[in-house]
Amino acid sequence: MIYITRKASFNAAHKLARTDWDDDKNNEVYGKCANPNWHGHNYWLYVTVKGEINQETGFLVDLKWLKDVMNTYVVDKVDHKNLNLDVDFMKGKLASTENLAVAVWDQLLAPIAESGAVLHCVKIYETENNFVEYFG
Ligand code: NI
Repeated sequence: MIYITRKASFNAAHKLARTDWDDDKNNEVYGKCANPNWHGHNYWLYVTVKGEINQETGFLVDLKWLKDVMNTYVVDKVDHKNLNLDVDFMKGKLASTENLAVAVWDQLLAPIAESGAVLHCVKIYETENNFVEYFG
């Protein structure tokens, strides 16, 4: 079993606030992240897949193919977008990095499986100090 990771970046706006809570409660729980007029992050997305090396190509997967899958199913949908308003796969979800990682996993699972490789981990950095890892 071998693992390979492709990294991508995107910029997106969001806010963390529940519509069923008032401003005081949202500010208490989410602090600056509840700012009604949004804020942005420079996200880094790491997608790790696992499987066996193709003895003909020497590859697990073609990284150009993995890059294209990540762009089609995730990056093109979130880059320079508002995670709360613009992104179909985040509709109805609180735009935390945790929820984003799970949603990205759900976006990528089937397309990656088509290659014969297996999705292993979705890791998203929201800031250089904070990141989430999801293993399904
Ligand atoms: Ni934020």
